[in-house]
Amino acid sequence: MDIEYFNEIPDYESYVNLRLSVGWKIFCKEQMEKAISRSCYSIIAKIDDEIVGMARAVGDSMYYTIVDVIVNPKYQGQHIGSNIIQRLIHEIELNIPKGGRVLISLIAASGKEDFYVKQGFSIIPDEESGPGLRKIIYGE
Ligand SMILES: CC(C)(COP(=O)(O)OP(=O)(O)OC[C@H]1O[C@@H](n2cnc3c(N)ncnc32)[C@H](O)[C@@H]1OP(=O)(O)O)[C@@H](O)C(=O)NCCC(=O)NCCS
Repeated sequence: MDIEYFNEIPDYESYVNLRLSVGWKIFCKEQMEKAISRSCYSIIAKIDDEIVGMARAVGDSMYYTIVDVIVNPKYQGQHIGSNIIQRLIHEIELNIPKGGRVLISLIAASGKEDFYVKQGFSIIPDEESGPGLRKIIYGE
């Protein structure tokens, strides 16, 4: 089974299918199309032309947030997710200007923390940082 990786955003249908494959809720179509097209970096994994995994980074060159880290359950446990994350980080790294630095953050789904620790992330809070916070707001 050949797994190929591409620096590409997924097409809309594949994106929706990947989200649904892991039981995630979808957003409205207008938001999802806009969101994937605005990714700063995006990696997809393909097997026989099917997109089986993805992750993307949104940000502004100093700060990035990694989102939509998904491997279709049929293909989990084969190091596809870790390859995607490493490739995403590599792309970000390639574009750091000399003397610059980048801060990459993400919110781990419950129980997935150690997957990210294995990819070199550290869990917060730590001695420098407090806990992460978030707020979800809904359109009328
Ligand atoms: C999390 C996810 C992307 C991992 O992808 P994957 O391709 O199955 O993971 P990999 O095979 O690349 O795993 C890499 C390593 O992390 C470990 N790992 C994977 N999931 C783990 C978990 N939940 N907890 C601890 N370790 C985990 C693997 O055992 C492997 O360890 P090894 O390098 O020592 O062999 C995938 O399980 C997934 O899509 N889950 C559903 C969606 C989700 O929760 N995404 C994360 C949102 S924050």
